[in-house]
Amino acid sequence: MSLRNCRNVKVLEVSPVGQSKAAGEFFELKLEYPDWDGWKPGQFVMIRPVDWELDLLWGRPFSICSADGESVTLFIQNVGRGTSRIAQLQPGDMVAMWGPLGNSFAMEPETPTLLLAGGIGIAPFRGYVESHPHPENLQLFLAHRMPLECYPFETLSDKVEGQCIIEEKPEDLDAIINTMKGLIQEYAEKGGLILSCGPTPFMKTVQRFANEFDARAQVSLENRMACGVGACLGCVTKDGEGHHVQVCTKGPVFWADKVEL
Ligand SMILES: Cc1cc2nc3c(=O)[nH]c(=O)nc-3n(C[C@H](O)[C@H](O)[C@H](O)COP(=O)(O)OP(=O)(O)OC[C@H]3O[C@@H](n4cnc5c(N)ncnc54)[C@H](O)[C@@H]3O)c2cc1C
Ligand code: FES
Repeated sequence: MSLRNCRNVKVLEVSPVGQSKAAGEFFELKLEYPDWDGWKPGQFVMIRPVDWELDLLWGRPFSICSADGESVTLFIQNVGRGTSRIAQLQPGDMVAMWGPLGNSFAMEPETPTLLLAGGIGIAPFRGYVESHPHPENLQLFLAHRMPLECYPFETLSDKVEGQCIIEEKPEDLDAIINTMKGLIQEYAEKGGLILSCGPTPFMKTVQRFANEFDARAQVSLENRMACGVGACLGCVTKDGEGHHVQVCTKGPVFWADKVEL
């Protein structure tokens, strides 16, 4: 993948998600489908609205939430300058998009698979659930801070066994950690697969319990990125042997025992 794979695509839809006062913080961005041969859940795109000109230099990375040959859907939390500008896009506006980038989550259709999502980390799991041949083998756990309606949880828990805990007070964090510990131990004991995506402290918790119970677990990293194609070295982390690797090209998905967090 290189910047030659960058395409200008049209915005088809920008829809706020959720009805609460936090609703403005989450939205779905639907973009025209470029001439991709395909994509896999866990991969991401870099986007940069054309009208940013020299205002914001770098694109922003987002997991591919779903894509169907007509459109690519991203699920975005408005956290800063770039995402607030993206939230203001209108249908018909043009966006430079490069991707699909990076590697994807392991998919073993017959293996019981646990999806662990921290907040916006639920985004890649929509595509994962939609493209899994046996969703009955999937279980989803979401730890979140905003009201549940802000996340695409209900649509997923219609298809797979789902559980969630909101973090509002310190005791909730204990409940989240204990639940994750119990689930990771259970999946380790039955030889299952564990896939996770979320903020770094969430990933560290997954890694800690995966090591403790010798579980097969993958973590998807959200390091800050600028180019998305391995050139700027802005996203580097260390692999299990201490070598520097670019998260955008060697990841964003890593086996939990083969990456330093
Ligand atoms: C592979 C990958 C997939 C991602 N998928 C999604 C997704 O599906 N949906 C989504 O909403 N976000 C996703 N992110 C995070 C998203 O890229 C950032 O939130 C976004 O770039 C912030 O841009 P900004 O200009 O609004 O924020 P800035 O103004 O640059 O920063 C505002 C705040 O956001 C924090 N921030 C900036 N970049 C990141 C980042 N990469 N991860 C976490 N916090 C960050 C900053 O530390 C700061 O506190 C993903 C990131 C990566 C690397
Ligand atoms: S974002 Fe540039 S090397 Fe990864």
